[in-house]
Amino acid sequence: MIDLTKKGYSISCWPDEKAIYEKMGLLVNGADYHLKPEALREYMGYFEIKCAGSKKLNEEAKQYIPGGVQHNLAFNTPFPLAAAKAEGAYLYDVDGNRYVDYLQAGGPTLLGSNYAPVREKAIEVISESSPCTGLFHEYEMKLAQEINKHMPWVEQFRALASGTESDMLALRVARCYTGKKKIIKAGGAYHGWSDQLVYGLHIPFTGNFESHGIPGECYANTQEFFPNDIEGLRKLFEKNEADGGTAAVILEPFGPESGTRPVTQTFNYEVRKLCDEFGALLIFDEVVTGFRVGPGGAAGFFDIKPDLVVFGKIVAGGYPAAGGIGGSKDVMSVVAAGVDTSKPRAYCGGTLSANPLSCAAGYYAIKEIVERDAAAKAGKAGDRLTEGINKLIDKYDLPFVAWNTGSIVHFEVSGMMYVDVRREDAMQQLHLKRKRVEEFGAALTANGVITLAGSRIYTSMADDDETLQLTLRAFDDVMGNLTLS
Ligand SMILES: Cc1ncc(COP(=O)(O)O)c(C=O)c1O
Repeated sequence: MIDLTKKGYSISCWPDEKAIYEKMGLLVNGADYHLKPEALREYMGYFEIKCAGSKKLNEEAKQYIPGGVQHNLAFNTPFPLAAAKAEGAYLYDVDGNRYVDYLQAGGPTLLGSNYAPVREKAIEVISESSPCTGLFHEYEMKLAQEINKHMPWVEQFRALASGTESDMLALRVARCYTGKKKIIKAGGAYHGWSDQLVYGLHIPFTGNFESHGIPGECYANTQEFFPNDIEGLRKLFEKNEADGGTAAVILEPFGPESGTRPVTQTFNYEVRKLCDEFGALLIFDEVVTGFRVGPGGAAGFFDIKPDLVVFGKIVAGGYPAAGGIGGSKDVMSVVAAGVDTSKPRAYCGGTLSANPLSCAAGYYAIKEIVERDAAAKAGKAGDRLTEGINKLIDKYDLPFVAWNTGSIVHFEVSGMMYVDVRREDAMQQLHLKRKRVEEFGAALTANGVITLAGSRIYTSMADDDETLQLTLRAFDDVMGNLTLS
């Protein structure tokens, strides 16, 4: 079972998934809490008055960039803020406003933004080696060695440029290695935006709902099961036996969408057993959890050996080209970059992958994370924040739900990802729920706190009493301005 006292880890207790699902059921089907019209006007007024520079840039950007914004996770209500500076736990926009930064670039900056010791090394490396030459560089090996030191099950590592590519390659390796066909994912999980994996996104059993522009053949061998439904998973395995077999189950080990749908303590162990029984590979997508939850990632936390680990984000220390996959020498032998031609070969490439800048930044960031106990520190900040948010939920008697696994904090004000898509009015419900999340997130931003899409917080080692106080003050202000329809 899970050992919550593991050194270097940030998880003080495992979320009570039963209680969370129950509360989320009430939230998603319950009364519509929203901001009082006068409060909403005031919060939106903040952006008009204080963020004129961002607004002007966005107006211009809309002419050249679709929607005027490139990042899905950038908070866009009422318009995207333009960043001027990021440092530690804070972001500054082009109008000079300061925000507590819980977007943290989408997760990679566990040490805090623009962490000087890593930046200095990165500058040193590109000054000497240039960001990329195309030849082998020693830092490629140092990064792979450093990962192996903390995750011995990652005997070999192949660096790539993004989490999306890495998930793609993991599927290809699984098929080459097993000779089987089907890929099973947990409904609602995110594994990047490749043709095969834009399937069952965000909400379980939405299948190809978001697969616009992707021919059905591309995801014909992708299947989803309901998170925690081990019996349902077994049935899929059994059915697949007569139809090409199951090559792999791919999981976000803390649950879909970084744990937005938490899994039981036993879930990953049971999936491991099923994979062994049916000769499939178990892929842990650790793009978010890798090093963030502790030095061994989720696999180390659960003491489960996945056959493949997918990396992103932290593996390049907050610098570009963050990705890679790793596993045993045996499994990874099918990715031998043109060296071994005797086996089925999972083709992969990438002109700028494994460049000295990304590899050095990843190497030094991981070293710093471990030496400074960053996961545990950020995890404690996540615990304190969650406790504070929950106290405010009680104070205002709201049906909202907040929980965390260390530095990954969830706060749900509408339950958007829990909408039952079989409902006739699902689209209207989704629309309303999204609006509520956006309003809540914008109100927090107007109070100086930037979150990930209005429902998630990534804490970092840079969080302290001051960021905690500022954040809880912001939540207090916004929650105090809610009303019922
Ligand atoms: C679990 C998971 N897998 C894969 C990805 C895709 O990574 P990238 O954005 O680097 O393509 C993400 C991105 O957030 C993720 O959270």
